[in-house]
Amino acid sequence: MKYSEFAYIHTIGCQMNVYDSEKLMAILSSLGYEKTDDIHKADMVVCNTCSIRHKAQEKAFSFLGRLTKLKKTKPELIGVMAGCVAQQEGEKAFERIPHLDIVLGTRAFSRFARHIEAVKSGRQKVTDTADSSVIYEVMPETLGFDENQISRFVTIMQGCENFCTYCVVPYVRGTERSREPENIIEEITAMAASGVKEVTLLGQNVNSYGKKEGKISFPRLLEKINQIQGIQRIRFATSHPKDLSMDLICAIRDMDKVCNHLHLPVQSGSNAILKKMNRGYTRETYLKRIIDLKTQCPDIGLSTDMIVGFPSETRQDFEDTMNLLGEIEYDSIFAFAYSDRSSAPAAKFSDQIDEEIKRKRLNELLERQDYYSRKNNEKLTGKTVDVLVEGASAKKRDGFEAENKNIKQMSGRTQSNKIVHFPSENASIGDIIKIKIENAYLHSLWGTPAEIGEK
Ligand code: SAH
Ligand code: SF4
Ligand code: F3S
Repeated sequence: MKYSEFAYIHTIGCQMNVYDSEKLMAILSSLGYEKTDDIHKADMVVCNTCSIRHKAQEKAFSFLGRLTKLKKTKPELIGVMAGCVAQQEGEKAFERIPHLDIVLGTRAFSRFARHIEAVKSGRQKVTDTADSSVIYEVMPETLGFDENQISRFVTIMQGCENFCTYCVVPYVRGTERSREPENIIEEITAMAASGVKEVTLLGQNVNSYGKKEGKISFPRLLEKINQIQGIQRIRFATSHPKDLSMDLICAIRDMDKVCNHLHLPVQSGSNAILKKMNRGYTRETYLKRIIDLKTQCPDIGLSTDMIVGFPSETRQDFEDTMNLLGEIEYDSIFAFAYSDRSSAPAAKFSDQIDEEIKRKRLNELLERQDYYSRKNNEKLTGKTVDVLVEGASAKKRDGFEAENKNIKQMSGRTQSNKIVHFPSENASIGDIIKIKIENAYLHSLWGTPAEIGEK
């Protein structure tokens, strides 16, 4: 069945959801749907949802609440809740959003077309939260490449079996499954052919890629991707600290396209809390991995995730987390206040922390990190770095372009994932150019092309 209609997709949540939304759009395109950025034009509205924290989940419900109004003017509109909240809520989603037509769980993509057909033919509602051990693959050429999109996400594995006690992911994404290396390579090769220069490989724990099924290991997969012509940079997330191997550290050190950056979520600096979180490492073993990493890759960019206010976290536990910032001096951190997820075990732990204390600790942590972020950025002043040009700077220096008519203010990233703004006459999106850093700020750097006149 081919439809000639418009689809609007709203994505909440992690990078994996961004990739999944591209897959959903590929499915819809194959059915004849055209993508629109105007929700009022849409015949199909999809919200791809995230359930990692309460706030993310509520954003999904609030967005889908718009269906009531939209359906008043267009009753035949199809409303879809996809992803992690859909998987978690199932039928219950209809109670809060009566105008929803399809609840599409995280492993139901292969049946999406069939569900649309069912809704269209009989206007019946469909819920699909069935499990599936098979990863749904779409043909790479249907993924819809935009020529200015030089950086893309590629999910290489789904699910998680680590069961950190605060986390909903194992319950909503299911057991760990790795994609076939051939499918990943084929997809990235197609991306490279369409002009993509950088790929970020995604998995909840990329270090365990292929282990369960006896496929090639993650570092061997990186080796293959490193050989794909046209791809200039390879990033990946997330690495679980308990599984970070010397093999992977050497891959970062030795493979030219693998970026000199690692996101290594620590969550807490307190051993008592790490144990209750079921993270499988201690502060000491984590620090040892960081030392190994810095020894092999001295200029590596480091980032992490942290949770404050996990049940029973004392002031001392929190201080341990604060001190870890000083010991490691990360380039950036993502920090969150612990959020109760009813399917995760920590929701039943005693000694839940007061919301006000969580908020204060979060602010304290972020403030302390600002110092290290700025300090690391300042270390780069006077140095020349390779920058992959991503586009025109979203934030312009006051009056800059007005004074210099032929010069555009562009931005891009260093291998270590720092944003650099620079003036240029001739840099194009996708170029890698040398920039001499002149100023360092909290979240970005400013520099000028090292060889003026050259790209
Ligand atoms: N697989 C990745 C994390 C995915 S979720 C890993 O293990 O690192 C992204 C981040 O969200 C986590 O690292 C954690 O810091 C945060 N997070 C997960 N569950 C949370 C919760 N219940 N409350 C607050 N933050 C949470
Ligand atoms: Fe969640 Fe832990 Fe799995 Fe990451 S490793 S997705 S935090 S259970
Ligand atoms: Fe959210 Fe699901 Fe990703 S819960 S963080 S969208 S895996």
